[in-house]
Amino acid sequence: MRTGIYPGTFDPITVGHMDIIRRALKVVDKLIIAVALDTGKEPIFALEERAELVRAEVAAFGADAGRIEVKTFTGLLVDFAQENSTSLLIRGLRAISDFEYEFQMACMNSRLDPAMETVFLTASENTHFISSRIVKQIARLGGDISSFVSPNVAAHLKAHFAGVH
Ligand code: COA
Repeated sequence: MRTGIYPGTFDPITVGHMDIIRRALKVVDKLIIAVALDTGKEPIFALEERAELVRAEVAAFGADAGRIEVKTFTGLLVDFAQENSTSLLIRGLRAISDFEYEFQMACMNSRLDPAMETVFLTASENTHFISSRIVKQIARLGGDISSFVSPNVAAHLKAHFAGVH
């Protein structure tokens, strides 16, 4: 049985992430979505809330939801992968601009653990322009984010920014 890890900040999960999850399920038997604490970003949602938002989306995969597990992790991704007995990482690539960062991370991870392999899935043409950062900015300014995130995530964003203002 092939298990893969799809790691990310997921602040919050978008339809771009959902597209990658859907396609990752064709490549692995079991997918662990790993929501990271240590990302170098400053998320607006706490670690557990980000994971809860991902869990709520996973239901949309119907029968395939049983092949998905959502976990949080702190510390290094390679350690988390070892704890979960897998060395397969899955990442989404949107554009050439993602390549340098992703290439660097994949190389770093394989230096930290030579067994680690990163598989890149290219984002679909209808999601490749989506970024959590820009979605948050639009939500903060009261714009329509309904085509970028689920209604549940949109409601959480709205509530978050209502509290901020
Ligand atoms: N697929 C993936 N991301 C997509 C996407 C798609 N189809 N479409 C858009 N995106 C966006 C996301 O919305 C997000 O946007 P943002 O940068 O504006 O927030 C961005 O692409 C990718 O974010 P995300 O998928 O959440 O991942 P990340 O790059 O924040 O994840 C970790 C980074 C968690 C993998 C990395 O920091 C890590 O491994 N941390 C653990 C500590 C560690 O081991 N560090 C050393 C690593 S070498």
